[in-house]
Amino acid sequence: VNNFSFKELTLENHLQYKNSTKETLSCLTTVGGLSDKTFTAIIQQWIQNKHIYKPIMIVENESERVIAIGTLLIELKLIHDGGKVGHIEDIAVNDKYQGKGLGRILLEFLKNVGVLENCYKIILDCDEKNVEFYNKCGFKRCGVEMDYRP
Ligand code: ACO
Repeated sequence: VNNFSFKELTLENHLQYKNSTKETLSCLTTVGGLSDKTFTAIIQQWIQNKHIYKPIMIVENESERVIAIGTLLIELKLIHDGGKVGHIEDIAVNDKYQGKGLGRILLEFLKNVGVLENCYKIILDCDEKNVEFYNKCGFKRCGVEMDYRP
C-alpha cells in the first residue's frame, strides 16, 4: 500500500489525471471521448457541489497514474428525520491492478466518508458477478435494481 496514495480531484490536478482516470473507468464501462473542456466542466460542477460529490482516486506513486477510482454521493432525505443516504457510484480498479486488495481499500474509504457524514445507510447497484466482492466489503443484498432509459 506504500506504493499508492489517495488523492482528491482538484481544479489544479484534474487534467494531469484525465487520461489515467479515463483508462481506469473504461474497465467499468464506455467512457467515450470526453474533451478537456467537458472534463473540466464536470469536475468544476463536482467541486462546486463538494457536499454532494465525494470522488476519490488511488494513484500509483511511481507512475502518477490513477489506478482506482470511485465516488460517494450524499443525498439529503425528507424522510428519516432529514437523514442522509450515501450512494456508491462508478467503482473501477484498473485491470492490471485488480485482485490486489485495492477495491476493498477504496470501498472502506468511501464507507468511512459516509459514516463520518452521518449517512444512515450506504447503498449501491451492481452486477451479479460483483455481489461476492461487495459482500466481502460488508454490503448485504437488499432490494431490486430497476432502470428506465429514455
Ligand atoms: N467475484 C468474487 N470475488 C471477488 C470479485 C469478484 N468479481 N472481485 C473481488 N473479489 C474478492 C477478492 O478475491 C478478495 O477476496 P479475499 O479477500 O477473500 O481474497 C476481495 O473480493 C477483495 O478484492 P479486491 O482485490 O479488493 O478487488 P479488486 O481490487 O479487484 O476490485 C472490482 C474489485 C472493483 C469489482 C474490480 O474488479 C473492478 O474494477 N472491476 C471492473 C469494474 C466493475 O465491475 N466495478 C464495479 C461496478 S459496481 C459500482 O460501481 C457500484
